[in-house]
Amino acid sequence: MRKRNLAVIGLQWGDEGKGKIIDSLSRDVDVIARFQGGNNAGHTVVVRGEKFVFHLIPSGILRPGKTCLLGNGVVVDPRVLISEIESLQKAGISVGPENLKISPFCHLILPYHRLMDTLREGDRDKKIGTTKRGIGPCYVDKVNRCGIRMRDLICPERFSQVLAENLRQKNPIFEKVYGHEGYELDALSREYLEYGRTLEPFICDFTEYFFPRREKLCVLFEGAQGTFLDVDYGTYPFVTSSSVIAANARLGSGLPFVRLDAVLGVAKAYTTRVGEGPFPTELSGKFLDFFRQRGVEFGATTGRPRRCGWLDLVLLKRAVQINHVTELVLTKLDVLDGLEKIQVCTGYRREGKKLHSFPDELRGVLPQYTEMPGWPGGVSGARSFRDLPAQARDYIRMIEEYLEIKVRYVSVGEKREAILSQE
Ligand code: IMP
Repeated sequence: MRKRNLAVIGLQWGDEGKGKIIDSLSRDVDVIARFQGGNNAGHTVVVRGEKFVFHLIPSGILRPGKTCLLGNGVVVDPRVLISEIESLQKAGISVGPENLKISPFCHLILPYHRLMDTLREGDRDKKIGTTKRGIGPCYVDKVNRCGIRMRDLICPERFSQVLAENLRQKNPIFEKVYGHEGYELDALSREYLEYGRTLEPFICDFTEYFFPRREKLCVLFEGAQGTFLDVDYGTYPFVTSSSVIAANARLGSGLPFVRLDAVLGVAKAYTTRVGEGPFPTELSGKFLDFFRQRGVEFGATTGRPRRCGWLDLVLLKRAVQINHVTELVLTKLDVLDGLEKIQVCTGYRREGKKLHSFPDELRGVLPQYTEMPGWPGGVSGARSFRDLPAQARDYIRMIEEYLEIKVRYVSVGEKREAILSQE
């Protein structure tokens, strides 16, 4: 049987634990491709007691013989990419042009994008709480057709010409509007062209390289962020600047000619969010402390404490539909250990009235909860669904029934082997 090409997509606001699932599934695929976002993402994977945090490179790089891609939809900060390559190499992981390929169409993050991200955020009446990595301003330049791409990095003449044009436009804004120093062409050119020399061997024409072998490839499309941070389908304007949903996987990966056979939607057994924006099941007080401490809910990229809340099935159902999820992955079930009662949001109310369709504005909706019993002991030692306490299985069954979709994997701990699967 031909192996399936699959996408792994976050169904909440990011940080669902996709990294660990991707690490596990990447064993059975040939290619792992990122298709959007940049180093605003952060995946933590623990292998043999060693912790790896990835911001750009797919976590599949840890497996020998796999090819990892940064597709055209990804925005690349070359400084970050080079330091990630070097720190992996230092840890003894092999990273080279044979197992890491970068699309020439990836847009580059420049220092002025990072600065603009910070300055714009400072200006906003309603903060978004961006990661300040320059992601938004880089995508702005991409659609404004003044972006600088990976292919320009290896062509000094073209690079300097596009950079000069950008500085001509941007420096007066920094200087006159923000009272900030502008950027100097020569210094910035030298710095980036040096990055270009390091990255040149990794740049690859994906169509030429992969099209002839498209039928034989088995691809895992690695999503970053989560559905409700999607620039179109998320809680706009409190979103990231790219399309994070499954429909963008083929387009942004640079493999539009590869079929997508399955979509694995990843959700935490509760909900978290970093940054600003509506969050109906958000908790405060002792339950917030419980989730934050137990789940170590601090951003992998910025270290910010995450907002935490109960599982929201109304939101998840929407995400299942938007991504056409075929199988569900539930992560961090072990974090719920020890709770006497667990609340699950199964409906919304606004101004005292039950909402019968998904609201166009999440702000101001009140969650309606269904109460479930907690379970005795812990689930982290479980290695199959049968090992789980009956109450934990009931919790999973309730989710399956509401979402009308099978929970295929449950993660019960940090380690690679702490993933249970059911056929
Ligand atoms: P930006 O992507 O840095 O522009 O940030 C926009 C919003 O997305 C902010 O609320 C960030 O906290 C959030 N965000 C971006 N990337 C991630 C992620 O990987 N996990 C969780 N939140 C993220």
